[in-house]
Amino acid sequence: MTILDGKKISNDIKDEIAVEVKKIKDKGGKVPHLAAVIVGNDGASLTYVGSKVKACERVGFESTLVQMSNTTSEIELLEKIKELNENDDIDGFIIQLPLPPQINEQKVLLAVHPDKDVDGFHPANFGKMALDMSTFIPATPFGILELLDRYNVETKGKHTVVIGRSHIVGRPMSILMGRKGFPGNSTVTLTHSHTKNITQITSQADIIISALGVPNFLKAEMVKDDAVIIDVGITRVTDESRPRGYRIVGDVDFDNVSKKASFITPVPGGVGPMTIAMLLKNTLLARERHNA
Ligand code: GUN
Repeated sequence: MTILDGKKISNDIKDEIAVEVKKIKDKGGKVPHLAAVIVGNDGASLTYVGSKVKACERVGFESTLVQMSNTTSEIELLEKIKELNENDDIDGFIIQLPLPPQINEQKVLLAVHPDKDVDGFHPANFGKMALDMSTFIPATPFGILELLDRYNVETKGKHTVVIGRSHIVGRPMSILMGRKGFPGNSTVTLTHSHTKNITQITSQADIIISALGVPNFLKAEMVKDDAVIIDVGITRVTDESRPRGYRIVGDVDFDNVSKKASFITPVPGGVGPMTIAMLLKNTLLARERHNA
């Protein structure tokens, strides 16, 4: 069994990006600038956005954190997005999800200029992704592809089962794994809350990508020998023994499933850090395109 070490690979990617930033600086160019907008004060979202900003510093990007209150109206957020679209200093930006209930997420995602949409959530970018055109690929699926690539995990002709159909992970992942090329060329099954007999499906999978958000959902008896297991779950579970009062738990019963798996991602230290690294990669791409 091999651990797919997202922490290590993400650090390698950040080092590679830092080299590119240095080249830009040496040529007297402008370094990439990422902005992140967070609405409200959800603890997990604040942590994620904080990590994104910190990662920018690490690679030499400029970053801007825009914090807006929980009572922000949809119009106020749309105005902020217009400002970021028009600000030529900013190469790319993200609106951290989820948003408070008074704000329509679809309207917000449509308002982000596709050239600055480093999350790859705008329909123009999502459509390009589905049509194999060059674009921003959503960071978490992009990170999973990169992990599979760097560990040379075979995907061609394999049966990949994706659990969860979210717009951020499951849906794009199901499209990407079925695309022509590597990683891809998989036969994909997308499972969700209405799927019947999920164990019957997962136990036939060569690759399982679980993006459900239910701690320890995937048990050893649901997995065949030598399966590749990608755990996208990051649920906070109360744990008074930890300094923060919680710990992060994945969708996979790691201790038992890892005994059967050929490759497996840990939580934490698997997919999570890859998401941030790939957001940086998309921002570098946005900078390069902005220049062109
Ligand atoms: N919330 C959870 N994951 C993500 C992500 O990748 N991007 C944004 N903007 N919000 C998220």
